[in-house]
Parts: sequence; C-alpha cells; structure tokens
Amino acid sequence: MGRKIVCLCNLIEEKEIVSVLNKGVESTSQVQQFTGAGRSCGRCLPEIDELVVVYKKKKPKDLQKKLDFGF
Ligand code: FES
Repeated sequence: MGRKIVCLCNLIEEKEIVSVLNKGVESTSQVQQFTGAGRSCGRCLPEIDELVVVYKKKKPKDLQKKLDFGF
C-alpha cells in the first residue's frame, strides 16, 4: 500500500490524519491544528471532513465491540 497524501500543500499523509483521529481529535479544525493539514489553500478540507465523518461513524461500532463481552 502506497502513501496517500491528503494535503499537498503541507505534505500530510492520510495515515497522519487517521493517527490523530485515533488519539482523540474530533473535528476538522482540530486536525488542522494538530497536523497542519488544510492550513494553506484549503483544497483538502473536504477530504479531511470526510475522514473525520468516517472516523466518527466507526467510533461507536468500535466502542460497541469493546463493550460487547459476548454474554
Ligand atoms: S492541499 Fe491542503 S492546504 Fe492546500
């Protein structure tokens, strides 16, 4: 699997964005703050928004898995 650059202006990879989302970042503005992505031309902001939405959708399922003890 190759590197996927989300933010061409600041050379921020998708894996860096996913990493901060996994550490508790919850919004596009927080992704901008912690990675620097989307802080120049802004063309990548829709893609960052999408990653944030996808992550938020996944989170409750992951949480459910953790809470499901198989009883
Ligand atoms: S591509 Fe991300 S700020 Fe320009």
